[in-house]
Amino acid sequence: MQLVYVDRKTYRDKTSTAFLEQLHNRFGDFYLLPEGGSNQLALSGCAEIVTDIHVPFDVITVACGTGATLAGIVTALKVRQHAIGFSVLKGADFLSKDVTNMLTEYGRQSAHNWHMENSYHFGGYAKTSPELFAFIRKFKADFGIELDAVYTGKMFYGLFNLIGKGAFKRGTRIVAVHTGGIQGNAGFPELILD
Ligand SMILES: Cc1ncc(COP(=O)(O)O)c(C=O)c1O
Repeated sequence: MQLVYVDRKTYRDKTSTAFLEQLHNRFGDFYLLPEGGSNQLALSGCAEIVTDIHVPFDVITVACGTGATLAGIVTALKVRQHAIGFSVLKGADFLSKDVTNMLTEYGRQSAHNWHMENSYHFGGYAKTSPELFAFIRKFKADFGIELDAVYTGKMFYGLFNLIGKGAFKRGTRIVAVHTGGIQGNAGFPELILD
């Protein structure tokens, strides 16, 4: 692979026609993988997360960056099942719109059995707090499962917080999707777990 550097300003304009034309002039025909890999094929791939779950459930939760994983999951839900996306980005009001757009493009504009939780970002993307680290360490001690500080830690923190607040009816069956990402903990000395 050859990596080509793009500065922040150019990256911000990455979907503009001018930038795409530049890419074409420089590299010829190319396949554009959007940020987060969030295209329609990704939605089909993420739908398989649901078909791989072999226990009955009412609610499914997932951490959201671009929202494509959530959108893919939603496409595979039964009407009575509900998905909750936990945004790891601050001020991510646009995320619900993005997920709606992805679903619409996928022909599933009528899917309303999902919502976003925007209060568990801990200050923004990859921002953390001692409370989050403590939660992740306790989760590992209690369940033997490692969480990362950027995505799954925030989602599980939010989910446990909602459960504590009584947001779910007693007996609700919840599947929380662990999306991986623990390699990112290498950047957080607070999370060197044994
Ligand atoms: C570990 C992990 N979980 C969740 C996500 C969020 O995925 P999406 O961008 O589809 O919302 C990502 C995205 O990079 C991730 O790395």
